[in-house]
Amino acid sequence: MCGIVGGVAERNISHVLIEGLKRLEYRGYDSAGVAVIDHGDILRERRVGKVANLAEAVEQAEISGSLGIAHTRWATHGKPTEANAHPHVSGKVAVVHNGIIENYQDIKQSLIALGYHFSSQTDSEVVAHLIDHQLKTTADLLTAVQQIVPQLKGAYALGIIHTDFPDQLVTVREGSPLVIGVGIGENFISSDQLALLPVTNRFMYLEEGDIALLTRDHITVFVDGQTVQRPIKELDATVSNASKGEYKHYMLKEIYEQPEAIQQTISQALNGNVLREDFLASAVVDFARIQQVQIIACGTSYHAGMIAKYWFEQLIDLPCQVEIASEYRYRSPVIVADTLYVCISQSGETADTLAALRDTQKRAAAKHCNISTLAVCNVATSSMIRETDHHLLTLAGPEIGVASTKAFTTQLAALMLLVLKIGQVKHNISAQVLTEIIVALWHLPKVLTDTLQNDRNILALSTLFVEKNHCLFLGRGTEFPIALEGALKLKEISYIHAEGYAAGELKHGPLALVDNDMPVVILAPQDHMLDKLKSNMEEVQARGGELFVFADEHSGIQKADRQHVVYVPTIDERLAPIVYSIPVQLLSYHVAVLRGTDVDQPRNLAKSVTVE
Ligand code: AGP
Repeated sequence: MCGIVGGVAERNISHVLIEGLKRLEYRGYDSAGVAVIDHGDILRERRVGKVANLAEAVEQAEISGSLGIAHTRWATHGKPTEANAHPHVSGKVAVVHNGIIENYQDIKQSLIALGYHFSSQTDSEVVAHLIDHQLKTTADLLTAVQQIVPQLKGAYALGIIHTDFPDQLVTVREGSPLVIGVGIGENFISSDQLALLPVTNRFMYLEEGDIALLTRDHITVFVDGQTVQRPIKELDATVSNASKGEYKHYMLKEIYEQPEAIQQTISQALNGNVLREDFLASAVVDFARIQQVQIIACGTSYHAGMIAKYWFEQLIDLPCQVEIASEYRYRSPVIVADTLYVCISQSGETADTLAALRDTQKRAAAKHCNISTLAVCNVATSSMIRETDHHLLTLAGPEIGVASTKAFTTQLAALMLLVLKIGQVKHNISAQVLTEIIVALWHLPKVLTDTLQNDRNILALSTLFVEKNHCLFLGRGTEFPIALEGALKLKEISYIHAEGYAAGELKHGPLALVDNDMPVVILAPQDHMLDKLKSNMEEVQARGGELFVFADEHSGIQKADRQHVVYVPTIDERLAPIVYSIPVQLLSYHVAVLRGTDVDQPRNLAKSVTVE
């Protein structure tokens, strides 16, 4: 979604703000803006499009100042125009905002009645006017902010500056991420610590409801007007590894990082051919008690959850439900005691998943229901990790490309580890199966590396998709969610309409779509469903469909007229979905590049969906 950067220093910080915005651009990228205070004036520049446009404008206007705020926008209220871009200014105050002010229409009407003029269609502008109005009767900026915040309903993070307070940056966190970067004689704010890594590796993580006052040398955090202490944490140096390196796009780099990312993720849990004693040790009592699992997630993370459901049921005989968070949260689900609620999220800040988690916790408390919560997440400092009883980190490293790749496969690896751990605690898995899967997990990075060798073959196939408008992805069993994931990848970055189906559903409707012009991607590992899948392939061929098959090298599936085959190394069928993710990622990537789309920042999307 939108991104915030701000800072108070002795030096000119306009370059820090622009560099921070560039690092946040993956979150939202339809317009950007910056405001600094210079000799009692607010200097502001805003531009539609990429941060590069803003950077050029800032350089030309020679904007400089030691106190400033900046923003990259992903439009929710009002189109991506310069007038709607942040910061918004009212009199002497400038504001940047992430999130949504749900009651902005009511506030706007009362401000208009007071004589305020609105120059944007955003919900955010009300905050600037409210503070300006409050300062007519309040002596200082911090108090004014504290007084207006209770009027705001919704989820928001704010950065606020005022020309009469040239050494103060005020910030608010209520439902949208915000972190303080602690420097030496300078302090910063951002919605994502990645933005501040060039200036500091020391961070203070605000909690919901915190309001903070930053000066060059002090940070004071308030809750309900009282000061509170928030610890400062030093960030692990590896977290800062977020550049494109030799790759053309972040997405391609992240696809190639998967063998290493999986290795990291499994190493935290395995010791030789056994699970480490300390892996999820604090959750063992809860695992022994639980009778079922409820997974909640969005998008790609939901697809990971769908696969985990097969594993929970097949491998350890534990009932498991999985649901998209945006439905779950509004469905009045019945809370059942002894359920493990698993939230899966790359960012740990996805608004719907967080809301579903919080709602579940509230309902369980109201019913005195003993449940446990666990986050499978890639960001150690995220809200989701802080708010769950237990967590399992995916050690994918920062994922910048909007299309999720390494976060997905590491989620799968982590979920398999979770299944094994719960199975072991509950004595629901045999020693033989446990060992077989652990051995296969250790083997996985090598299989993924070998699978990546198919890149050129997949590039060759992708040329046949460039002119297509539609595409089907088919798989069975745990490859069904990979079919959904493949279709999601292709549509989000190449803008080709794609659908994923369980291959058995073909004749119940989608077969009507198949003709000479319909590419059909098939996921065909060597598993117990292979023969049935081969029948589905024949159904497609009989209707003139063109098949693109990612098949196990021993599957017996051969290249033929209108049947293209890329062979994938053999893998234990229980881990096949992790391996078959790679070809669908590469296919989508190459098709998108050939179609000339913006691969890392596809239109209309944002990396971290922190608004509903
Ligand atoms: C997929 O490529 C997307 N980036 C999207 O579906 C994503 O998985 C979804 O928004 C959930 O994000 P999260 O994992 O950070 O919660």
